[in-house]
Amino acid sequence: MNVFITGGTTGIGKQLALDYAKEGHQVGICGRSSEKYTKDLQAIENIKFYKADVAYFDQLQAALDQFIRENNTLDMFYANAGIGAGKKVKEPKIERDRSLIDVNVNGFINSMEVALKPMMKQNSGTIVTISSLAALFGLPGNAAYSASKAFVRTYSESMSIDLKQFGIQLTCILPGYIKTPLTQKNNHAMPFLMDVDKASELIRNAVKKGKPYYGFPGIFSCICHFASALPKWALHFLLGQIRYR
Ligand SMILES: NC(=O)c1ccc[n+]([C@@H]2O[C@H](COP(=O)([O-])OP(=O)(O)OC[C@H]3O[C@@H](n4cnc5c(N)ncnc54)[C@H](OP(=O)(O)O)[C@@H]3O)[C@@H](O)[C@H]2O)c1
Repeated sequence: MNVFITGGTTGIGKQLALDYAKEGHQVGICGRSSEKYTKDLQAIENIKFYKADVAYFDQLQAALDQFIRENNTLDMFYANAGIGAGKKVKEPKIERDRSLIDVNVNGFINSMEVALKPMMKQNSGTIVTISSLAALFGLPGNAAYSASKAFVRTYSESMSIDLKQFGIQLTCILPGYIKTPLTQKNNHAMPFLMDVDKASELIRNAVKKGKPYYGFPGIFSCICHFASALPKWALHFLLGQIRYR
């Protein structure tokens, strides 16, 4: 397969790139910083880096065009690139929220657009979108992040149905806490924190099985889905108990 992963230089995207490459697939990764395209990635023949910021449509389009020119088809596309809010804040920081939405929402739509064009022409392909269990409710101190991931989740739900007529599979992934540079900045408890290699394995299995929707780790996903179905007064009480420094 020819697999393109946005945000493939660190964390979940990097691990997916390494694992798909090990299985013999051709992998394209993109990111804003060439410095994160480290020697371990450079050493792998079937991983290629394209410098692109998903928030800029033309950069992403140029990167994917080049990948397709070099490999003929696009079989799988991961809309993975995303930024966290960093430390939770008690006072709203709207400027920070805007730049997060530029990447996590506008960058996500750019990713969908560039991936869909070749796949709709081919009448085949798999798109994987990375939401989060944080999409299931508005986490205090993290409004824009939760909202951005809720956008990805709901958009993916619609699209997974719409895209079937074009022979395109869409899998939306909702990870819990995974050990990556993104979560290293967190100043709050991270229950069921998972290693990134295990996360990659679970994601790749869910995609292989053609699941439209997959949340993990299993127990944490069940707890979050159950909590999101509680009456709002109960959910607000529970979310109000979350402590951060
Ligand atoms: N880690 C978790 O616990 C967790 C849980 C749920 C969901 N997620 C989601 O999983 C995805 C990956 O997270 P991660 O934990 O692996 O994060 P990470 O380790 O911080 O990696 C993020 C990757 O995305 C790239 N990136 C960031 N902004 C970009 C942009 N504007 N354009 C292109 N590339 C960009 C980064 O490279 P550059 O900085 O060089 O651009 C890097 O390669 C995110 O969407 C995140 O929201 C993570």
